[in-house]
Amino acid sequence: TDRYRIALIPGDGIGHEVLPPARAVLDAVARRHGIDLTYDEFDWSCQRYLEQGAMMPADGLDQIRGHDSILLGAVGWPGVPDHVSLWGLLIPIRREFRQYVNLRPIRVLDGVPSPLRSELTDPGVDFVVVRENSEGEYSEIGGRLNRGLPSEMAIQESVFTREGVTRILDYAFDLAGQRRGVLTSATKSNGIIHTMPFWDELLQERAADYPGVQWNQEHIDALAAKVVLNPSRFDVIVGSNLFGDILSDLAAAIAGSIGIAPSANLNPEREFPSMFEPVHGSAPDIYGQGVANPLGAIWSASMMLDHLGHPEAGAEVLEAVFGVLADSPVRTRDLGGTAGTEEFTREILGRIG
Ligand code: NAD
Ligand code: IPM
Ligand code: MN
Repeated sequence: TDRYRIALIPGDGIGHEVLPPARAVLDAVARRHGIDLTYDEFDWSCQRYLEQGAMMPADGLDQIRGHDSILLGAVGWPGVPDHVSLWGLLIPIRREFRQYVNLRPIRVLDGVPSPLRSELTDPGVDFVVVRENSEGEYSEIGGRLNRGLPSEMAIQESVFTREGVTRILDYAFDLAGQRRGVLTSATKSNGIIHTMPFWDELLQERAADYPGVQWNQEHIDALAAKVVLNPSRFDVIVGSNLFGDILSDLAAAIAGSIGIAPSANLNPEREFPSMFEPVHGSAPDIYGQGVANPLGAIWSASMMLDHLGHPEAGAEVLEAVFGVLADSPVRTRDLGGTAGTEEFTREILGRIG
């Protein structure tokens, strides 16, 4: 038997509603594949922050360093400033564990209507956003000056390193090589004159090693429009931390709901655990109603099985999910249905073994 220890961090809001379904699906599939999963749950959250003054304990990262993977729900809640909650939990995990790849697949699925006209999504939309996840625009360098004065200002530096950009481009070129061989790089070298020309130069430099991949670059503004106008043409899109963040929600909307979109925060070298989490946040507007779509979390759990070395188990999860979407009317409100989280989860569990 293959044994894995998983750190579960439901976090805030609907994180608590979507992780139990992901765990139920994992357990059902794991049993059939001789995989033994054990879970340690951590209550790190905005509630903990309000009660104890910190999102996680001082040695929190050490508590999960030895786990095989991390499954996270969502972080952030009204009453705690987002930069406090996210920089107190989510972002330290991504950075400390060198999860520099944020992989966000997008597919327009049978039975899930895209808001776009069908001729735009046919042939099938199936691409992956490879988001740089450890540097770039998400930086602590900068500050606030002259608070309250007419001369008040805020300065936020971006950090792009040769090592950081090169490794994400290499990951994206490799992935494109394993898929349809087409890579698009998001840039903004017409307006952002230091970091983005550097990104573009490194792209050109790395491309030399991947003759089998057809690559190009697009300015992020024009690219956003093209992703809407012609989503079927994309295979792998690589972007900086901020560009990848924005593109992944845009693309999730094209696929019908942000509630479906999964992500994997990967440490490709496997020196540290990787983290799997839905793209969506804590959704305060629907929390407590039992209507959250669990698919983003379930699909993320499937990516976890892939990463742990069980792609056949991961594929089984996706077959069950895609099967339900294609043939059953049971689905959550964001997908046009009337089912709650539990009923939708039962429908998916019913397809597994
Ligand atoms: P959000 O993703 O929480 O919600 C955006 C909209 O999508 C809301 O209308 C919500 O109801 C809907 N939605 C999201 N997930 C859904 C699901 N599974 N099923 C059905 N509908 C769903 O984004 P937001 O409102 O910008 O952020 C809320 C909080 O979450 C903030 O504190 C934000 O910082 C945080 N956040 C955390 C993460 C993360 O932990 N990775 C990601 C995004 C936002
Ligand atoms: C995401 C989220 C986070 C990010 C926020 C909440 C810090 O939007 O995972 O996409 O920007 O990385
Ligand atoms: Mn985001």
